[in-house]
Amino acid sequence: MKSRSTLSVLALVALLPVGAGRADEPAALYADLCAACHGQGTAPLSGSPYPALFGNPQVAAAGPVYVALKALHGTGNMYPLCALASDAEIAAIANHLAAANGNQSPPLAPEAIAALRPAAGDCPILH
Ligand code: HEC
Repeated sequence: MKSRSTLSVLALVALLPVGAGRADEPAALYADLCAACHGQGTAPLSGSPYPALFGNPQVAAAGPVYVALKALHGTGNMYPLCALASDAEIAAIANHLAAANGNQSPPLAPEAIAALRPAAGDCPILH
C-alpha cells in the first residue's frame, strides 16, 4: 500500500508541465523562456535583430505590465508565450526585468496576470 501511494505521487510529479512552480526563480525562467532570443546582457545577441531586455529603455519606462503583455501576446516576430508559463511565472519574469531596468512601478501580483492573458483560442500551444 505504502509503495503504491509513493508511486502515485511520483507519477503526478512527472505529469507537471515544464516550468510549473518556478516563480521563485525568475532568472532561471528568463534563461529558459526568453534568453535564446533576447540574450542575458544589455546588448542584443551577436547578429540578432532582437532587442536586449536588460538596459532596455522601453522596459525601463513602461514596466512590468508592458513586459507581461509582450510575453503573453507576442509582438512582431515574437510568438505568444502564454501557454508556456503560469500567471505567477509571468509576473515573476515581468517584475524581474522591470526591476533590472530600474523601473519604479510596484511589482505585478500573479492575480493581475489573468486579465492580461489573450483568449484561450488566441494562445497557441507551441511544440
Ligand atoms: C523566439 C524569439 C523570442 C523569444 C523566445 C522571446 N522573445 Fe521577446 N521579442 C522577440 C522579438 C523578435 C521582439 C521584437 C519584436 C518586433 O518588434 O518585431 C521581441 C520583443 C520583446 C519585448 C519588447 C522590447 C522593446 O524594446 O520594446 C519584450 C518586453 C519582450 N520581447 C519580452 C520577452 C519575454 C519576457 C520573453 C520570455 C518570457 C520573450 N520576450 C521571449 C523575440 C522573442
